[in-house]
Amino acid sequence: MYLTASRKPPSRKGSMHDVPNDLMKHIHELEEMFTIHTPKLLEIVSKFQEELVKGLSVAGGSIPMNPTWVIGYPTGDETGTYLALDMGGTNLRVCEVELPEEKGQYDIYQSKYRLPEEIKSGTGDQLFDYIAECVKQFLIANHECEDIKDLKELHLGFTFSYPCEQNAIDHGILQRWTKGFDIEGVEGHDVVPMFEAALERKGVPIKITALVNDTTGTLIASAYTDNTTRIGCIFGTGCNAAYMETIGCIPKLAHMNLDPNLEIAINCEWGAFDNEHFVLPRTPYDRHIDESSPRPGQQTFEKMVAGLYLGEIFRLALVDLYSNPDVKIFEKQDISALQLEYSLDSSFLAEIESDPWENLMETHALFEKKLKIDTTEPERKLIRRLAELIGTRAARLSACGVAAICKMKNIESCHVGADGSVFNKYPNFQERGAKALREIFGWGKTVRNDPIQIVPSEDGSGVGAALIAALTMKRIRKGIHAGVNVKRKNSLIPPIP
Ligand code: GLC
Repeated sequence: MYLTASRKPPSRKGSMHDVPNDLMKHIHELEEMFTIHTPKLLEIVSKFQEELVKGLSVAGGSIPMNPTWVIGYPTGDETGTYLALDMGGTNLRVCEVELPEEKGQYDIYQSKYRLPEEIKSGTGDQLFDYIAECVKQFLIANHECEDIKDLKELHLGFTFSYPCEQNAIDHGILQRWTKGFDIEGVEGHDVVPMFEAALERKGVPIKITALVNDTTGTLIASAYTDNTTRIGCIFGTGCNAAYMETIGCIPKLAHMNLDPNLEIAINCEWGAFDNEHFVLPRTPYDRHIDESSPRPGQQTFEKMVAGLYLGEIFRLALVDLYSNPDVKIFEKQDISALQLEYSLDSSFLAEIESDPWENLMETHALFEKKLKIDTTEPERKLIRRLAELIGTRAARLSACGVAAICKMKNIESCHVGADGSVFNKYPNFQERGAKALREIFGWGKTVRNDPIQIVPSEDGSGVGAALIAALTMKRIRKGIHAGVNVKRKNSLIPPIP
């Protein structure tokens, strides 16, 4: 017998033949609930496109479409040393980035700090003092100087990945917290002076040159090394995208009388798509997540696709099955650990989906260790299918956002730089997203390479943020003032006329 060579890694067969009929019935119900077929994908893309356009209009819509004041792509000629600080959902990262003379190159040194959970619901001062202290420690460790006050002034790109209305490149009013943060007194305020005050309290001599969203950083970092990049996306704790828009296509900026041909990065904040509940097929679990979240009614799309929520959707579905008298699952088991809200994160689902064994023995061990539940093989088959359904839905919905931007901008081929834990670590996420794009655009088998491809990005919150700081300084030196803050103390910066 000849063995044929396969380009794909072998996958588990996943037969359901030993799953009892009653459990099979519930698997089918879950499939019905979570599967998004091609016609629905198309309906979602079309609504998404409409909403993106609405977000650029004067009246606005639920997707904010925030202009970022990042004007144009990098040329590759940016040089200098910059600091980059990334305040993500779980970690804080401080980097020093060197942009050398060689086009498209960079060097990066970094330190990571854990963001303590209690800080996410503390006060603004606690948050910014903690961040300023981490920056201080980084500078002390990396500059080996007696006193950091003696350091020559460093410019910082601050990646703050929450929806901000940016009235200048280095200023932004937090519209609302996302990703589970709930800190009083910050929403509706400019976060930069708050952070600057904390830096001053700690005696840290740095200037915040740009406030950056992670998606914009991703777009710029990817475009720096790959000039076919048109979109930057994050599929992580949260989910969002940025792309370049021409000023002439942004009616809400018309009053500024800027050059209509200038290109400006738009941070879509597409997590807010369908807050009106027009089109997304929400399950009772999605509704529950929304209603019990700190910001009900907001981030509808994000709550169905982002890493912060995937584990919770899965947990709620299992608890629901357990409480259903018609379903025989986890019989005589103590499910108290499973009843704890947000006790499972998306890495739990990723591990289930990676279990290579036909009898899902790794899933058995996982449930035993994490939840103290001894699962039967048919139960594990349901568990695996449920994880696949939730992971697949997230990937297919995410592809809808990418397709909507491409359709709106008539982009027929490009690279989409993507980052985030779900994109990088969740099994099959990338392939599932690519398949959805093929269905949406109708690329048949004759199309050899997908014209629009979502590819791993360069480091957006490191090199991307540094590049944006460099682009800002370059613009200032050239005397281009759009988006540059009037009150900047830096003498390099002339006031906006
Ligand atoms: C949330 C934030 C957004 C960020 C995204 C990915 O949606 O609101 O600003 O880009 O998460 O981190």
